[in-house]
Amino acid sequence: MGYCHPLMRLGESRMDSDHDALVHLITLVDRLMAGSGDIGTISIKLVALYRLAEEHFSYEETLMDAIQAEPAHQLHIERHKEKHTEFIKQVMAISACAKRFEPVEVLHRMYGGVLAALLAEMLGLDADLLAILGGGRRCST
Ligand SMILES: [Fe+2]
Ligand SMILES: [Fe+2]
Repeated sequence: MGYCHPLMRLGESRMDSDHDALVHLITLVDRLMAGSGDIGTISIKLVALYRLAEEHFSYEETLMDAIQAEPAHQLHIERHKEKHTEFIKQVMAISACAKRFEPVEVLHRMYGGVLAALLAEMLGLDADLLAILGGGRRCST
């Protein structure tokens, strides 16, 4: 079982490989929370997810520099950066919860599927960004 989304392949190699890695970690964290994963392992995977997401968002926000000067794209940039911030906040919230040694069932009840849902929203914004930059394509393979 793996998380799959029609926008997983946007045609920009760095973004696509980062998204693969993000999906891998998100799926793993969700599985650990849903099963009998120990809290220490979940915490370690959340740190890796946090670092990867920070690097990935920083890369995408560098791409946004190319369209920064266009007033027509300000709304996109604003929304896109907000969504990145929201994702990081959620990862930190789950990490904080895990550090308090909440039972795994509590983590799952509170946060199961949350990161995957956010990623799906972010993929839509990434596709829009690439379309604005002129190099994007939407496909499902
Ligand atoms: Fe993004
Ligand atoms: Fe992305």
